[in-house]
Amino acid sequence: MASARLVILTGAGISAESGLRTFRAADGLWEEHRVEDVATPEAFRRDPELVYRFYNERRRSLASVEPNAAHRALAQLEATWPGELLLVTQNVDDLHDRAGSRNLLHMHGELKKGRCLGCEAILVWETDMDRASRCPVCAQGRVRPHIVWFHEVPLDMDRIYDALERCDLFVAIGTSGHVYPAAGFVQAVPPRARTLELNLEPSLVASAFQEIRQGPATELVPAFVRDLLET
Ligand code: OAD
Repeated sequence: MASARLVILTGAGISAESGLRTFRAADGLWEEHRVEDVATPEAFRRDPELVYRFYNERRRSLASVEPNAAHRALAQLEATWPGELLLVTQNVDDLHDRAGSRNLLHMHGELKKGRCLGCEAILVWETDMDRASRCPVCAQGRVRPHIVWFHEVPLDMDRIYDALERCDLFVAIGTSGHVYPAAGFVQAVPPRARTLELNLEPSLVASAFQEIRQGPATELVPAFVRDLLET
């Protein structure tokens, strides 16, 4: 395994122990909202104020959370691993970034970015956003959260599939397997690749993995990284 090519996929479960709620709570609501009211292009057209407010709250909540041992272990792995490593996250929080991961793709977007509806520039955006927010690049376009909503295409898919098709080890951490295309990544790796799921409970696609380890990410991920660096 010493110079293997790794692809690691993370979901909301890796940030749960930092204090960010996962999506699929038993009541089917996401921070007290139905997903279709806040996370679709239709919702943004219908009630932009609600959507802006929802993401403003999510963005603000990042100030009171910190990366946990699982985020830090993945950053340490990237810093020491002699082979290729691509970290793909479905999370829109910035905890991997703050832990120090750099070879990182946010396939569902980022809370701390905005996108101009006019010139389509991607903008670093750390403060609240509303209908009056304007793009600093073209100075006139309205700005939306840089979040991939339902019915929209995730980001960087070419780079992700390119890495999946060449990888030797694919690891999925803290993701429920409800949302495609990420849930199908395990099917896109070559037959020779090792596949491993680390999750609190088996995901919907757990049977597609060669190995499953169950438990909290802050225990499983540091242990996995230690094992990998020792072999
Ligand atoms: P989910 O909320 O669907 O699933 C979270 C997973 O994390 C579950 O399988 C839990 O068992 C697991 N989990 C919870 N706590 C954990 C812990 N401490 N350690 C390890 N695992 C834990 O979140 P995602 O799979 O990330 O999309 O959801 C995928 C996408 O659905 C999100 O990116 C979001 C949402 O709609 C967009 O916003 C576009």
